[in-house]
Amino acid sequence: MTIRSAGGAGHARYDEIGRAYARTRREDPRLRARIYAALGDAKSIVNVGAGAGSYEPRDRHVVAIEPSDVMAAQRALELAPAIRASAGSLPLRDASVDAAMAILTIHHWDAEQERGVRELRRVARGPVVILTYDAEVSARMWLVADYLTEVAALDCAIFPPIDRVCEWLGSRDGADISVTPVPIPRDISDWMLGAFWAHPERVFDADARNATSGFARMSTEVVDRVVGDLARDLADGTWDRRHGALRKQDEYDAGLRLVVASPA
Ligand SMILES: C[S@@+](CC[C@H](N)C(=O)[O-])C[C@H]1O[C@@H](n2cnc3c(N)ncnc32)[C@H](O)[C@@H]1O
Repeated sequence: MTIRSAGGAGHARYDEIGRAYARTRREDPRLRARIYAALGDAKSIVNVGAGAGSYEPRDRHVVAIEPSDVMAAQRALELAPAIRASAGSLPLRDASVDAAMAILTIHHWDAEQERGVRELRRVARGPVVILTYDAEVSARMWLVADYLTEVAALDCAIFPPIDRVCEWLGSRDGADISVTPVPIPRDISDWMLGAFWAHPERVFDADARNATSGFARMSTEVVDRVVGDLARDLADGTWDRRHGALRKQDEYDAGLRLVVASPA
C-alpha cells in the first residue's frame, strides 16, 4: 500500500540494495532484546527508515516510515504498512508517539540527517532509540582496514559522529543520553557489513555483499578487487596469519552503537 510518495537518494539506493535483503538481513534476537529494552514500555512507536520491519515490535502500535517501495514490499503481512515518507519531514504531530526508533538507517538520510534526528526528538514523548555505527571504530575491522579501504572514507563521510547525533538529540540542553557499544556476535543473523568480521568466506556470497550498503555502493572494479585479494589471502594463509585469532572469538566490537535519548 502506498500512502504518500517521497523522493531522496537514500531510498533510490535501497530500491537496489533491498532485493536480497530478506535472506541475509534477518532480525537478530539479541539485537532485538537490546532495542526492546531501550524502548521500555512505550505503547506507540514510530519506526523511521523501517525497511522490511526488522526489530519492529509486534506487540505495540507502530507507525512505519519507509521511502523505498522495494523495502516496504518485503514487510510481513502482520506489520503495519509503511508510509512512504522520509526522515526529514515526518508526517506526525509533536510528541504524538511514546518512542521513536531508527535502526541502521541514519547514514542513509543524506542531507536530511540533522533534520531527521531532530524530527525523531520532536515527535516522541519518550525515548529516541538509534542504532548506528561509530565510523572510526568500524574502520578498524580487517575487511575495511585491509581490503575495502574505500568504505572507510565513505563511512566517515556518511555516518554522523556519535557526539553530533547526541547534540541533535539535545545533549547540550540537558537531555539524558546513553551511548552503548553493541558487540556483534559471531552467529548474528543480520548480516550487516560489521557482521563479516567473523566470516571472511561470506565476502564470496554476492547476495550477502549486495545487501550491505558498504559493498553495494562500491563499483564492480572495487568489489572484484576485494574478492580477488581476499581469495588469494585465504588460499595462501595470509588472512589467517593476520586475523586467525578472530576465528576463536564469540563477538567483536565493529563500531555498532546504541544511542538512547530521553527528552531534556
Ligand atoms: C539498512 S536499512 C535498515 C532497515 C531497517 N531499519 C532494519 O533495521 O532492517 C536502511 C533503510 O533506510 C531507508 N532510508 C533511506 N533514506 C531514508 C530517508 N531519507 N528517510 C527515511 N528512511 C530512509 C532505506 O530505504 C532503508 O529501508
